[in-house]
Amino acid sequence: MASVLDPCSFSSFTKCVTKHLNLSYNVDFERHVLKAKVALTVEALEDHFSSLTLDTRDLKIFNVTANGQEAKFAMGPKHSFMGTPLEITLPFDLSRGQHVIVELSYETAPTASALQWLTPEQTAGKTHPYLFSQCQANHCRSMVPCQDSPSVKHTYYAQVSVPKELVAVMSAVRDGQEPDPQDSSRIIYRFRQPVPMPSYLIAIVVGALESREIGPRSRVWSEKEYVDKAAFEFSETETMLKTAEDLAGPYVWGQYDILVLPPSFPYGGMENPCLTFATPTLLAGDRSLSNVIAHEISHSWTGNLVTNKTWEHFWLNEGHTVYLERMIGRSMESEQFRQFKAMGGWKDLQESVNTFGANNPLTNLVPSLHEVDPDDAFSSVPYEKGFALLYHLEELMGGPEVFMGFVKSYIQLFAYSSVTTEEWKNYLFTYFKDKVDILNKVDWNAWMHTPGMPPVKPQYDTTLADACIALCQRWVNEPLPLSHVKKMQEVYDLNSFMNAEIRFRWLRLCVKSKWEDAVAMALKMATDQGRMKFTRPLFREVYNFDKYSEEAVRVFKAHRAAMHPVTAGLVAKALKVDSTQTTSF
Ligand code: BES
Ligand code: ZN
Repeated sequence: MASVLDPCSFSSFTKCVTKHLNLSYNVDFERHVLKAKVALTVEALEDHFSSLTLDTRDLKIFNVTANGQEAKFAMGPKHSFMGTPLEITLPFDLSRGQHVIVELSYETAPTASALQWLTPEQTAGKTHPYLFSQCQANHCRSMVPCQDSPSVKHTYYAQVSVPKELVAVMSAVRDGQEPDPQDSSRIIYRFRQPVPMPSYLIAIVVGALESREIGPRSRVWSEKEYVDKAAFEFSETETMLKTAEDLAGPYVWGQYDILVLPPSFPYGGMENPCLTFATPTLLAGDRSLSNVIAHEISHSWTGNLVTNKTWEHFWLNEGHTVYLERMIGRSMESEQFRQFKAMGGWKDLQESVNTFGANNPLTNLVPSLHEVDPDDAFSSVPYEKGFALLYHLEELMGGPEVFMGFVKSYIQLFAYSSVTTEEWKNYLFTYFKDKVDILNKVDWNAWMHTPGMPPVKPQYDTTLADACIALCQRWVNEPLPLSHVKKMQEVYDLNSFMNAEIRFRWLRLCVKSKWEDAVAMALKMATDQGRMKFTRPLFREVYNFDKYSEEAVRVFKAHRAAMHPVTAGLVAKALKVDSTQTTSF
């Protein structure tokens, strides 16, 4: 079989694969670095195996050994977003099927793209510093030298030494704690992840954390200031997990905890195994909370068990996850609710296509990521074009129950492995072997390899949307005149709404209609929290309001050092500010 290349990784995963990773971290809040050691258990896939390449990004490598013997190593040239390949030469040869333990001692950079180091002032408690990671898509290499490709899966074990006032948690099962024998002011937390998973799911948080039990296999974690509120808001977690298991099969990860991060966390949620990360913007009485949690729970099957082989097949992760998320909504609410959510998704897709441009190849369901930073490619396209395709196939194949049968079977077949779109499609044709005629009529090339909106627009049931559509039509002219926006404020007092989903849409509308009073509020929301979905469009909208372009740039520059490195980089690009400048201290 021809090997599939990963355009986002330098590592040599056709020659060898990592089976296990044993990590020790010493978290240094003074210098903003992780002092680290990692032992990779690597299996040779070919005879005469004697060298390998790992991904790194801004790492300082001190020493490398192979089965305890000194190994030669050299760093290659640095690439702007792929990092630096690390070439390791073993002092011996391996034959196919043999294992070697490659151990590296190293240190991360204060600017590591996976990490955000928060000062005490940036936390709710204001007294302790805080550290969190975000590895997806290709940032793990800035905290662990590894085969940073979703095509490789391994288990992991970790121990993390932190100041004893703080708590460490990871995307794994907690495995005890003990005083650090080397330093009485510190404590070591241990973790084990016995289910093989890709590197992008390694995650760590260190802070003044507390937790509450919210179900038989779930706790919620956050600073103590939010923890009771969070326990209340996430109380439906176990019901959702059970609903998901009914649809997709057993939950294999043991624990399902949720961690509520500080406001600069760049995403709504992140499906780190055993420990979903969530934005605190969900806590403002937000109806989108259950979508986000249903979504991250669904990744326990689509994404974490069955994984996209490269980021070009990212829609396999996100499209199936949105499909499952909406099936959970269907079970817990109604089919009409699912239809309503699907309509919203089509609008999000339309917006992404408009932003990128309908001819932009990044709006392909399966884009080429050769020399493309996956963070730049990120949009609603893999989510909603992916969902639209799956929904279209659902209609063709005989409805939700029938199609869910396929999705469940796909999950069982490909569990613990990584797949390409072609493998997915081959299995679709195998599963529906009696309906191949219908499948052959699908315009696959238009769906998968053509930019812009999909070739078929699904007709969703509008029952729940009708009232919204009718009200909307009473207000909307394109573009909405300033007088209308002011009137809306008089009638609804939308300025006082703190729900992030509503406030975001409202402020964006105000700025688009050139309401000067809204500019300061929009920039405040863009900097008070850092969720990419809100922050980047708000900055972009103010920037597009000519009179305030410079103000947007000024506010961005003033906040840049306190922003998450990935968000700061993407906003810099959107505002045409030099994006190579780092956010170091
Ligand atoms: N895995 C994604 C977040 C992600 C994707 C981070 C790519 C980095 C690179 C997560 O599951 C996600 O999709 N989050 C959404 C939730 C929404 C679709 C309900 C978000 O953050 O908005
Ligand atoms: Zn997702």
